[in-house]
Amino acid sequence: MDDRFAIFLVATPGLEAPLAAEAAALGWQPVVQPGGVTITGGWPDVWRANLWLRGATRVLARVGQFRALHLAQLDKRARRFPWSEVLRPDVPVRVETTCKASRIYHAGAATQRIERAIAEELGAPLAADAALVVKVRIEDDLVTISLDTTGESLHKRGHKEAVAKAPMRETMAAMFLREMGFDGSQPVLDPMCGSGTFVIEAAEIAAGLAPGRSRSFGFQQLAGYDPVAWDAMRASVTPRPAPAQFMGSDRDAGAVRMAQANADRAGVGALTRFECRAIGDLQRPDGPPGIAIVNPPYGARIGNKGPLFALHAAMGAVFRERFHGWRVGIVTSEGALAKATGLPLESGPIVAHGGLKVRLWRTGPL
Ligand SMILES: C[S@@+](CC[C@H](N)C(=O)[O-])C[C@H]1O[C@@H](n2cnc3c(N)ncnc32)[C@H](O)[C@@H]1O
Repeated sequence: MDDRFAIFLVATPGLEAPLAAEAAALGWQPVVQPGGVTITGGWPDVWRANLWLRGATRVLARVGQFRALHLAQLDKRARRFPWSEVLRPDVPVRVETTCKASRIYHAGAATQRIERAIAEELGAPLAADAALVVKVRIEDDLVTISLDTTGESLHKRGHKEAVAKAPMRETMAAMFLREMGFDGSQPVLDPMCGSGTFVIEAAEIAAGLAPGRSRSFGFQQLAGYDPVAWDAMRASVTPRPAPAQFMGSDRDAGAVRMAQANADRAGVGALTRFECRAIGDLQRPDGPPGIAIVNPPYGARIGNKGPLFALHAAMGAVFRERFHGWRVGIVTSEGALAKATGLPLESGPIVAHGGLKVRLWRTGPL
């Protein structure tokens, strides 16, 4: 197979644009597509994307393409595919297929042909629960073979053991911070921090830590994986000193303890401060203005909506009265709740979040 190929970075739907901006900042030339971003590169790019991208859910390597007009042709061409260049005969694998606008329309039958080709030509075991997934897309009779190089979704950074109610995914939190204009230099505050996701992501970004530094990836099970080169890539990450200006608070003492424990596990405990306090008692931190970002309870998910209007109004008043110069971002599924803050908010694109559609509503400097 070619040394360079297309690499598809799967985005949270609605967060393709900030993911493309992140990929561009890391030196790639991203092309935005629905559901993700395509870059071009080789295996080291695949590793680097998994290690560094905060906004991608997973990284798919497009390792081959061929036409197939019917199942017998799919069978034949799948058998000729150079599987040994990418897969290992000792690592269990499974195939997932989607068909669109193609003569082959039965995804199950296509999966079966490709799985059989891998099992019989390469000798790799098939397993329904295999961690390694070959993703096949048949569109307009063109069969595209991709490998999921990530494994467990990239929002799992590998540090969060304790999870509060309705946690924000790290991938989304990082992209919302980017959409707030966070570049690592500003103070960040989340006054309803739950398990601390926004605060911890912000501290990690400021400290130059790679989000994938502590976890393993699917590509480590592939044929071309070079552990020495990977270790060297990981070791080349040099964290930078960052100011201790990443703050979270929550009225739930258990959430605050969890957030601190999560920050400690992520290695940013010294940069963060978590306090138990209700939003009405929130004080402006000393120092320059920064970014307040908050994901309040939405009602559809926790409790019911009536009292939430009062909560949002109280939060809006606190920001207006005490946070002059700060910028505020609110992530919510309920535009009416965002508006109840009385803040001068603009809404961002719709983003899929655990069955809900949320948006980032943001202000300029107050
Ligand atoms: C949707 S969760 C936030 C999840 C968080 N972003 C995370 O990643 O874990 C909402 C949080 O708001 C907190 N909360 C609700 N009412 C509050 C209030 N009046 N003052 C402070 N925190 C409040 C809850 O305890 C809960 O942790």
